[in-house]
Amino acid sequence: MTKAIIPGTFDPITEGHRDVITRASQLFDEVIVAVASSKNKRGVGTLFTLDERVDLARETLNDLPNVSVQPFTGLLVDFAHEVDAQVIVKGLRAITDFEYEFQMTAMNYELEQALETLFIMSPPKYMYLSSSIVKEIAALQGAFETFVSPCVAEALKQKNAERDE
Ligand code: PNS
Repeated sequence: MTKAIIPGTFDPITEGHRDVITRASQLFDEVIVAVASSKNKRGVGTLFTLDERVDLARETLNDLPNVSVQPFTGLLVDFAHEVDAQVIVKGLRAITDFEYEFQMTAMNYELEQALETLFIMSPPKYMYLSSSIVKEIAALQGAFETFVSPCVAEALKQKNAERDE
């Protein structure tokens, strides 16, 4: 049985993430979406708490029977070992992702050679979609709803309303 983990900050989960997770769910027996408690790549705090990010991912992915969502703290390789996963799956978008993803893959390989990292390319329509850009459009009252699931759209509207109070 092959088990894969798909790690990320998921602040919040987007349709781009969902696309990669859905495709991975067709390739592996079990997929665990691993939501990192840590800060994102620019060292900025998250908009949603860890619990909120996990809940939104669970609701967004609840139609995929072999996919579960779990929070994790600490090193990804340790979490992979804990849940007995053999593969890390990451989505790859535009060329700008390469440097950062290659660095993480190289370091994870140094830390744990038995763990393989595989990349799934985003389709063109999601190539430039990111959680950051969705948050920015939402904060500036643009039309962001098609980029996220209905529960995430609702949660983003609520966050913006709280901010504007
Ligand atoms: O959504 P992101 O920013 O692409 O996710 C990055 C994430 C969470 C996958 C990465 O920061 C990570 O694996 N963090 C866990 C800590 C860790 O293992 N760091 C060393 C990676 S080489």
